[in-house]
Amino acid sequence: MLKIEQLNAWYGRSHILQGVNLKVEAGEVVCMIGRNGAGKTTTLRSVMGLVGRIDGQVLFDGHDISKEPVHRRFAYGLAYVPEERRIVPGLSVQENLRLGLVGSTNRTREAEMIDRIAETFPRLRERLSQSADTMSGGEQQMLAIARAMVSEPKLIMLDEPSEGIMPVLIDEMFELFNRMKADGITILLVEQNVERALSLADRAYIMDQGLIVHEDTAAALLADTEIQERYCAV
Ligand SMILES: Nc1ncnc2c1ncn2[C@@H]1O[C@H](COP(=O)(O)OP(=O)(O)OP(=O)(O)O)[C@@H](O)[C@H]1O
Ligand SMILES: [Mg+2]
Repeated sequence: MLKIEQLNAWYGRSHILQGVNLKVEAGEVVCMIGRNGAGKTTTLRSVMGLVGRIDGQVLFDGHDISKEPVHRRFAYGLAYVPEERRIVPGLSVQENLRLGLVGSTNRTREAEMIDRIAETFPRLRERLSQSADTMSGGEQQMLAIARAMVSEPKLIMLDEPSEGIMPVLIDEMFELFNRMKADGITILLVEQNVERALSLADRAYIMDQGLIVHEDTAAALLADTEIQERYCAV
């Protein structure tokens, strides 16, 4: 579904990604782990079209999208929930969810879709009319994920969704990811919470200094404490 080949990315003169190769098959949950500054966020941003200068191929469903603008990538079925959740303050939860429909071909079924999302995210259902900026950090993160789901993406990319969130909500979030996985949703997950991420994922990539340095099944990596200590110690 997603295939990244020899991806290079620059911020100004800094050459950050140095030939990243990665793929995600339909229905897979793939996680990307690695130290701070390894290039994980830059990889997701590059796939979404948010990095100014890149080189290499990003294939999505067979199309080379590496030169497509963000909205086209969105229309192809990519969704991205960034590290810093981008909920819109001043809008209610429901209005934020509605924003997820912008650009979607499915706009007519808005009410139905918001119902369905509210079903999956019980915390949001109770708060549909609450102003989004009065929700807790964890609830805002759930909202950001829910909003990405509204567009019914083929692939959802999540950047450290559990960061700064209290353990009970992290449990809830991973339960949600497990349900999404069971529903066949394809996920590319960046997570510092290595054990949880590897327990959820099918496969994993370890990134270091702008390169993929290791890839394996999540189960094999979960058992490999040496690799974990080498590349994942925060
Ligand atoms: N906008 C930017 N301008 C310049 N350099 C940047 C920019 N964003 C990131 N970088 C640099 O690119 C490198 C990779 O950053 P990136 O955010 O991709 O890492 P990461 O693996 O997501 O790290 P973390 O685990 O801390 O989120 C870092 O050295 C970072 O300082
Ligand atoms: Mg990051």
